[in-house]
Amino acid sequence: MILITGATGFIGRSLTRHLTAAGYEWQAYNGRINNPLHLRQQLAGVDVVIHLASSEARGRNRLLQHVDIEGTERLIEECRRAQVQQIIIVSRIGADSYSLQPLLRAKGDIERAIRGSSVPYTIIRAATLFGQGDRFSEIILGLAIWSWPLVWLPGGGTVAMQPLWIEDLARCLVQTVGRTDLLGQTITVAGEERLRYQDIAREILVATGLRRLPFNLPLVLLRPFTTLLFRWWHWPAVTAYFADRFFVPEVADLDSVLRVYGFRPAHLRETSAYLRRPGLRWRLFHR
Ligand SMILES: NC(=O)c1ccc[n+]([C@@H]2O[C@H](COP(=O)([O-])OP(=O)(O)OC[C@H]3O[C@@H](n4cnc5c(N)ncnc54)[C@H](OP(=O)(O)O)[C@@H]3O)[C@@H](O)[C@H]2O)c1
Repeated sequence: MILITGATGFIGRSLTRHLTAAGYEWQAYNGRINNPLHLRQQLAGVDVVIHLASSEARGRNRLLQHVDIEGTERLIEECRRAQVQQIIIVSRIGADSYSLQPLLRAKGDIERAIRGSSVPYTIIRAATLFGQGDRFSEIILGLAIWSWPLVWLPGGGTVAMQPLWIEDLARCLVQTVGRTDLLGQTITVAGEERLRYQDIAREILVATGLRRLPFNLPLVLLRPFTTLLFRWWHWPAVTAYFADRFFVPEVADLDSVLRVYGFRPAHLRETSAYLRRPGLRWRLFHR
């Protein structure tokens, strides 16, 4: 039996489809992650936990501490009591307890907590994900719609990234379940295309037929810009964490997925149809 925390989120929605298709029995964790009683009840009889619950989309450091760090510590403790055989945690490339970026620092603290516990674990450090309902490509599209005739390129858009398709991450997670060779391991998964932010923005504009002029946003103005957007434009969730990727490049080996999971991840261009779905532009424009 697999228990999934955060099953209703962006990754959770895709993962649950993949697990069902692969014939796994799973249940969604129901309740707040910091509630020991709920955890104890729902962990009974569970073999594997896939931990996706996170307050990241809210963009508040206080919640990051309470939900992501303390909530995960609580979950780990209850997994230990319940003798769970594997906990799978989705972290981020660049996770580091000493990072200057609060999100990456929180991820570093979470990784440290799991490594310091006696619960068998697998940490998946993922690159930024793209796919329907993401907080990356749809934000770029939303910003391009709003800022006609410009497309914003923080720091000139030169930062390198290897975004990964959500369905490919879900495949990796399903394959991680029960793999004893991945216990105690930290696996990095990223797309096999290394793109600059400006290339990604251009792909999104081409896929949606928008024409925009590139506009360089100096990195020094990026934080005030995202804070302003967060206050004024709550959806898609532009939080200060959106800016982190411009300060810490998210790069990994180009064959990171192939090497561990034996398949090649999709490219942005092949999967961008979700950016053309009916009603999306209208929704992005009206928020
Ligand atoms: N998306 C990416 O590009 C990406 C890349 C790398 C790593 N990750 C990591 O993967 C994990 C999941 O990401 P995601 O994009 O799926 O996040 P998401 O869409 O924001 O989903 C978060 C989930 O956590 C739940 N949640 C929030 N607060 C909770 C609490 N106090 N107790 C229990 N559940 C709570 C939410 O449920 P409610 O909405 O009902 O509160 C939701 O189901 C995160 O740790 C994230 O850092 C994401």
